Amino acid sequence: MLKVGFIGWRGMVGSVLMERMNAEKDFNGYEALFFTTSNVGGRGPDVGLEIPPLKDAHDLSLLSAMDILVTCQGGDYTTKVYPELRKKGWKGYWLDSASTLRLEKDSIIVLDPVNRHVIDEGLKSGMKTYVGGNCTVSLMLMALSGLYSRGLVEWISSMTYQAASGAGANQMRELISQTAVLGLSAKPLLENPASTALEIDALITRELRKPSFPQEFFGAPLAASLFPWIDRLMESGQTREEWKGHVESNKILGAKTPIPVDGICVRVGAMRCHSQGLTIKLNKDVPLGDLTEIIGNGNPWVKVVPNDKESTLKHLTPAAVSGTLTVPVGRIRKMIMGPTYLAGFTCGDQLLWGAAEPIRRILNIVIEHLS
Ligand code: HSE
Repeated sequence: MLKVGFIGWRGMVGSVLMERMNAEKDFNGYEALFFTTSNVGGRGPDVGLEIPPLKDAHDLSLLSAMDILVTCQGGDYTTKVYPELRKKGWKGYWLDSASTLRLEKDSIIVLDPVNRHVIDEGLKSGMKTYVGGNCTVSLMLMALSGLYSRGLVEWISSMTYQAASGAGANQMRELISQTAVLGLSAKPLLENPASTALEIDALITRELRKPSFPQEFFGAPLAASLFPWIDRLMESGQTREEWKGHVESNKILGAKTPIPVDGICVRVGAMRCHSQGLTIKLNKDVPLGDLTEIIGNGNPWVKVVPNDKESTLKHLTPAAVSGTLTVPVGRIRKMIMGPTYLAGFTCGDQLLWGAAEPIRRILNIVIEHLS
């Protein structure tokens, strides 16, 4: 029986992965072993099966006994353990949600509804390392897979609105702490019908600028604000998050001629859904109705939202999409720049399609390949 080891199943992405695997009844047909970096001998997650106590995630001999390792433990763990395992001659499959190995030449970035052909080629040629993509990139490709697969995209500019979860669990808590401070301080004014919006604004601005305002993890107020900066500066003047858009999307697609992707990445006060405003330069003039149909038929999860206010507010917001696998695309229209310029807006759960779901699916694909 195949042996599958899970590392980092307790963190945010790992927990979502466990939830999804339980929901899909994935824990069968192989022997599952759960590893830990801090609680050896402790109890593993509830997966509806008898499972042995937690094993040491740094025990290379035990790790090497696995056919497949699935890790959501993060980049530091991958950086330390992966090379040691490979050096030891381990030939198993390494499935990873961290970015560390994404751009290695012997790794494949997985997003099977979009690049199953690249994955199948990789499996056939003996590739053993499969890594989840950057969340924004994966969600953009899920939204636009129809246009990409028809070869209609000349370039894309994506302006993002990224949720707190992309920065981490502490940041999600901090966003809500910030919101709570603002809500509490504004309460007396909100309860006073004679107060004005400008008075409330002045109070909120004072709160946001107080040194005591909670910002240990973000380093700035996000609630009632935003920051157009995610990750570190690259030589190009892009942030690393912006840089990934082009590099990772082209690697995922296995593009021979790279299709440019660029834009500004912005952190906003959403909890776990990343949104993107898209300018899509098409390489030919295609009627809007056809484009809408092509986008909607891209994969089973993409859903076109009619370009009206009611549908947009109901279906194309983080509040509507959070916790679901649906990837809505709306605001689809030709732009005034010309008939080959298409506007669109998309929103997706960054912990699902942006992180855990491609990993859950590649595990099943690898198991199927090995069976
Ligand atoms: N880097 C992303 C973000 C999340 O900061 O939102 C992970 O892909």
